[in-house]
Amino acid sequence: MKSYDIQTLIPPQQLQQTIERLAREIAADYEGQSLLLVCILNGSFIFTADLARELSRHNLEVEVDFMKVSSYADSESTGSVKMDFDMSRSITGRNVLIVEDIIDTGRTLEHLLRLLRTRDPRRMALCCLLDKPSRRVNGLQADYVGEVIDDLFVVGYGLDYNHRFRELPGIGIMNIEE
Ligand code: PRP
Ligand code: MN
Ligand code: MG
Repeated sequence: MKSYDIQTLIPPQQLQQTIERLAREIAADYEGQSLLLVCILNGSFIFTADLARELSRHNLEVEVDFMKVSSYADSESTGSVKMDFDMSRSITGRNVLIVEDIIDTGRTLEHLLRLLRTRDPRRMALCCLLDKPSRRVNGLQADYVGEVIDDLFVVGYGLDYNHRFRELPGIGIMNIEE
């Protein structure tokens, strides 16, 4: 079995606190309203699950739907965003919160926003657990940001390296040596 060098960057307890804070910010903005969380698979599956459960402690109606898009191979952004599957229901007139694990170049979300705006949501906002602003190729900014990180390749809590390490409970820095 190949061995990998992964160093803890954000432990699970810190992620939990960050998600509690994000839920409070979101709940303050959508108090008494309904909100459709759009989980961007694969990377966002754990974050969306934890954020949704945290939001259940606040006063808003939460629904969850899923889209699957990808643009990375190994540790490189390929620059082309592939839609593997779309949401099952309409977002017209809805409050939509796109939930992403990480914003890196910003290409995935730029592509998604352009597509989803054509469907006339009532309000659309972005929530990301991790933000790597130093890598951005566009002006994209999230409305709710968990943690800002340096330009490091991170895995765990949903994030992968070649489909591996999504199951790790915290975020780790992956040292890629070939
Ligand atoms: C990763 C991550 C974000 C996107 C961010 O997804 O989950 O969706 O890249 O990168 P960007 O800002 O440079 O576009 P990936 O394409 O690896 O697919 P995955 O979620 O299935 O791992
Ligand atoms: Mn992703
Ligand atoms: Mg990936």
